[in-house]
Amino acid sequence: MKTKRLINVKNLSVSFGNNIILNNINFYLSKKESLVIIGKSGSGKSVLLKCLMGLLKPDVGSIEINGVNIVNTNRIDKENALKNIGVTFQNGALFDSLTIWENITFKKTRFLGFDKSSAKKQALSIIQNLELDENILELYPSELSGGMQKRVAIARAICDQPQVLFFDEPTSGLDPITGKVINDLINKTVKKLEVSAITITHDISSINNLASRVILLDNNKIAWSGKPNEMNKSKNNIVKQFLINR
Ligand SMILES: Nc1ncnc2c1ncn2[C@@H]1O[C@H](COP(=O)(O)OP(=O)(O)OP(=O)(O)O)[C@@H](O)[C@H]1O
Ligand SMILES: [Mg+2]
Repeated sequence: MKTKRLINVKNLSVSFGNNIILNNINFYLSKKESLVIIGKSGSGKSVLLKCLMGLLKPDVGSIEINGVNIVNTNRIDKENALKNIGVTFQNGALFDSLTIWENITFKKTRFLGFDKSSAKKQALSIIQNLELDENILELYPSELSGGMQKRVAIARAICDQPQVLFFDEPTSGLDPITGKVINDLINKTVKKLEVSAITITHDISSINNLASRVILLDNNKIAWSGKPNEMNKSKNNIVKQFLINR
């Protein structure tokens, strides 16, 4: 039986002026797969994820989400396709002036007309699964530690029950122990919700913890792709270089 592809990226290229960032990228994400994208700083990982989120339009190529090409469809079909995706941004990107529960249920209260008390109840049930305490709900992001902020960002990403989660550097800025806790939490969440995930990371332990498949970006291209254990044994020079420099 053919595995269902949730996301299919074909011939994707992105440039800013004369600066080519991504050149003819092809990959897919299947149901319940956990794909990890690695590559040195500036290799275009976040740009790629922004294309998949519909925030950046590639110069060339298609991005199918559940069969809908978001690059080339009307606004409503694009928005519907993107509803299947929950995102945590590289810098967390919580709203400073909103409380934690307002951050988590932002879409529901702002756009879907949920009332305050049911939104708050929902925020509570989500954070309890992420090992966060009830009393943070009324706090503001600046009152939380970096690790707690990452958990809140995950809570916001899963609030609308997406089919796919994107994590851009979920462990960056954290100490190794908190980083491992966040990775474990991501794994647990992905398994429990039976979703697919795309995670960008620099962190080797995150790759081994999270990935069912890895894509290495280098020099505007996918330089290598395979399973984490194959990566560790790979003779590919770019892979070896990446692993040595971690
Ligand atoms: N809006 C933009 N306008 C112009 N250049 C951009 C823009 N966004 C990204 N770039 C450039 O694209 C390149 C890739 O950036 P990107 O943020 O995707 O890197 P990255 O692989 O995520 O790096 P890091 O690991 O440091 O997060 C960089 O050279 C960056 O300066
Ligand atoms: Mg980045």
